[in-house]
Amino acid sequence: MNIILFGAPGAGKGTQSSLLVETLDMFQISTGDLFRAAIKNKTQLGSQAQSYMDKGQLVPDSIVIGMVEEVLASKKVDFILDGFPRNVSQAEALDGLLQKLGLDVSRAIFLEVPMSILSARLTGRRVCKSCGSVYHIESKPTAKFGVCDNCGGEVVQRNDDKEDVIATRLKTYEEATSPLKDYYKKTGKFVAIDGNRSPEIVFSEIKRQLSN
Ligand code: AP5
Ligand code: MG
Repeated sequence: MNIILFGAPGAGKGTQSSLLVETLDMFQISTGDLFRAAIKNKTQLGSQAQSYMDKGQLVPDSIVIGMVEEVLASKKVDFILDGFPRNVSQAEALDGLLQKLGLDVSRAIFLEVPMSILSARLTGRRVCKSCGSVYHIESKPTAKFGVCDNCGGEVVQRNDDKEDVIATRLKTYEEATSPLKDYYKKTGKFVAIDGNRSPEIVFSEIKRQLSN
């Protein structure tokens, strides 16, 4: 089963993808993670993406779509698209890619979280530089300050989790990504889940939807 997981910055897409990967052996395709890996590895893709990400803007479609096509061509089943598509033109491009590759997605799951909650989730988030594990200074702190529980790596704040950049990301979400709700409602694949509950409850709701 292939799914799209979408929602605002901080809605919990990465958190829920990790649970799906661990429990259902699905494969996560996070465009944000792919860009961060490219930046870390100092590739051309990374240098193209960085200036947009640091400002909280979307990386141009021409760059993102090519990257996703490459990954989809190699990972054909049980994937979770996390953070892609992010606007209607990417959704249209995805439809074309899926058709070309003989693939399909069965659900477009929207994680619904009030705007008033998102900012605190993002400013408090910390991530492991080595394995990417996600923490929160209040709701999910590491056992030892600054050290990843999972791999012992250094736990840091993401560059784009600063208040001014967060404001731009939330605005970009409203303008560009929010219209995807209507796009997927028309396909009959749209499922909205209340993401303002504990990660475990949100996850069981996602699993319930996937088994329907
Ligand atoms: P990306 O990395 O995708 O960032 P995002 O969409 O802004 O989403 P986040 O990763 O910030 O949030 P999340 O929903 O994964 O939440 P998480 O689970 O971590 O993209 C970054 C940038 O890359 C973009 O700004 C853009 O520049 C570029 N980009 C990426 N894709 C692109 C595309 N397709 N096109 C163009 N540009 C693109 O949770 C957040 C925090 O909340 C954590 O601390 C977590 O512990 C906590 N939390 C999670 N769930 C819960 C819960 N249920 N209750 C309480 N706390 C929770
Ligand atoms: Mg994420």
